[in-house]
Parts: sequence; structure tokens; C-alpha cells
Amino acid sequence: MTVTAVSAAPPSARDPGCDGGDASGGGHAWTLPAEWYASEEIFRRERATIFTRNWMLFSWSAKIPNPGDYVRGTVAGYSVFAIRGDDGKVRAFHNVCRHRGAEMVGEESGHCGKLLVCPYHSWGYDRAGLLQRARDFGGSQTFDPAGWGLHPVDAEEWRGFVFLKIERGGETLREWLGAIDAMAADYPLEDQHYFMSKDRDVAVDWKTYGDNYLECYHCQTMHPGLCASMDIDRYRVDVHAEEKFFHLHAPAREGGLTRGLYFYRFPVLMLNLYDWGSSIATVEPIGPGKIRHINWYFFTDVSPEKAEANRQSAEWSAQIVSEDIDIILGVQRNLEAGIYTRGPISPKYEHGVLAFQTMVREALADPAPETHRVAAE
Ligand code: FES
Ligand SMILES: [Fe+2]
Repeated sequence: MTVTAVSAAPPSARDPGCDGGDASGGGHAWTLPAEWYASEEIFRRERATIFTRNWMLFSWSAKIPNPGDYVRGTVAGYSVFAIRGDDGKVRAFHNVCRHRGAEMVGEESGHCGKLLVCPYHSWGYDRAGLLQRARDFGGSQTFDPAGWGLHPVDAEEWRGFVFLKIERGGETLREWLGAIDAMAADYPLEDQHYFMSKDRDVAVDWKTYGDNYLECYHCQTMHPGLCASMDIDRYRVDVHAEEKFFHLHAPAREGGLTRGLYFYRFPVLMLNLYDWGSSIATVEPIGPGKIRHINWYFFTDVSPEKAEANRQSAEWSAQIVSEDIDIILGVQRNLEAGIYTRGPISPKYEHGVLAFQTMVREALADPAPETHRVAAE
């Protein structure tokens, strides 16, 4: 992959001079250049301008119900952890000790005492991230806790989910969710309980995944099970460009799916809400052409009697993801192979793809800061 091509100004979606055109003439828009899906340089810029600046789904609230409970993970490639404080508020920090940089938290999740103690030289931080103990440091050095706190990350909860944002300040989580918050208000998320996860590492770019998610042009060929439940002819994608989300309408067939609400919030949040349960998904971009697809299933009734029905429901949903992954693995291989350069976008079915790709273009045109603000509050 050449880096020079992607360092240039992003081409217009309607660039008539693009190199992948067919013989049918103009009128339609074009996909992003293939090289954007496998470029280290593009990924570096996406990380700086997209994944550090947006709220990213990180965990669910019931995983850390009590003060001192924590969960560790990765956001935009940064090792971070979220911890519930003595005041019940969730805070999050880079997983980096201020002394010599050890990782504070090794376990995927757990509970700490009053102090979170670094495993290297036992510096202790309270649950709000303030340094409270620098064990037997020697000399006359004293530490102002305010100056040596753990580097914070923005953290907020929304209806039982924990979101983090690496770059601090800016939109609150509710502002970022925009109209989704009100539209989802009568879905009983608080009454739904975690049932199972299905996480998978997939050799596709996050944009390859997003492109696929935002059109149903492929549904009749790729998803026979979904088409049996859904009135595919009435499937619709509403683009909310200003608020950067997509409202997917999938009307039920007679006897098929029940009432549902489906969102994709740029860059990578997927909410599928039903009265009786939810499928909540996100994508963790690991590198150019590499993601971890993370999917959690919640149900209102998680009693043992319902376990088999819940499992079947989750597996049915996961099967649709598998069908998508099967085809887009090949798409990604071809995006990297150098034969396909770009293609035309269907005005009838792929306006969601075009809107998504426009969001990517706009974000990449926005200059990234050299470093992110991680200084303590
Ligand atoms: S690196 Fe944490 S106490 Fe030394
Ligand atoms: Fe699909």
C-alpha cells in the first residue's frame, strides 16, 4: 500500500477522475479508495481524529456495581480501566502508574480495597485516581496528590452502559447520542440483564464492517434467515448526518421479529433494542484491516428456564454477523490485493454507506492533535 496517496487531500466522493470507474458514466458516488482500508497512515489518523474523540462503548454498569469494582480494556489502542468510586460514579483512567509507568490493573475485572495499589513499587491511588501513598520514597520529596493522580479518561454511563472517551472535554455522552436517547426512551434497557457475549477477532477493517452494516442490498443474497423474519422490501436506512447516526428500519414479517429499534452511531456503536432483550455491539479497531467485534446480549428474563431460548435467540443474531463476516473477509482481502481500487455506490440502496464514508472523509480532513490531553485534572 502506498502512503503517499492517502497523505493527499481526501478525494471527493463524486470525484470523476477516480481510477476505479466503470464505463457507465457519472451520476453515482464512489466508495473510498481501497488503500484506505489497509493503510497504517490512515489508521494512525483515524485513531487520532475518530477513536480518541468519540465516546466508545466500554462495558456495562452491572459489571462494576459496587464502589471499588473495576474493569480493564482498550480504547483507541490505549490500555484503560473504569472503576466505580465511593460516590457511585464511574471514573476511568489510563492503566499507567505515574511513578515508572507500570500497568496498574492486570486482571480483566476485579475489586480493589480503599487504595488501588501499583504492583511494581506499591504506590497507592484512591478510587478517584488521586495518589495517596508513595511508600518509603525517601528524601524530602513530598507529593501533592493533585499533581500525581492517574491520567483520567472521560467516563459516563447511559442506561446501564459505560462509555469512555480518550480526548477529554467536548460533548457529554447524551449530547453525543443525540436523538437516540429520546428515541430509545421507551425500551426497558434497565430491566434487561446480561446474558452472554460473543467476541471475535476478524481480519477486516472497521470501515469494511461499517460499510456492510449500513446497507441491506446484500440481505437477500446473504441472509436467508433474516429475510424470512423481516419484510426486506420495506427495509430502510435513515441517515441522521448532523448527529452522525443511522436509524435502520427492519419491519417484521407476519409472525416474524417483534417490535425493534436499530441504530448505528458513528463510528462503531450498534444498538439493537427489543422489549424483551437487546443486542449491543461495537467494534474495537486493532489496526488497519483488523478489528475485534464485541457483541453482548441482554434479556429481560434470564432465569434458568429461559436460558435455552435466550441462547437460541443470541445464536440466531450471531449467525447473521457470521454471514456478514464470511463475505467481508473476502472483500477485505481484495481491498488489499491491488486489483479493486474503488466502486460505484447504489443510489437506491447504499446511501447509508455513502453517508458513513463521508463521515470518515470529514473526520480525516480534521487535523489531529500531536498528542492527546491526558494530564490530570
Ligand atoms: S511504577 Fe508504580 S509504584 Fe513504581
Ligand atoms: Fe448483513
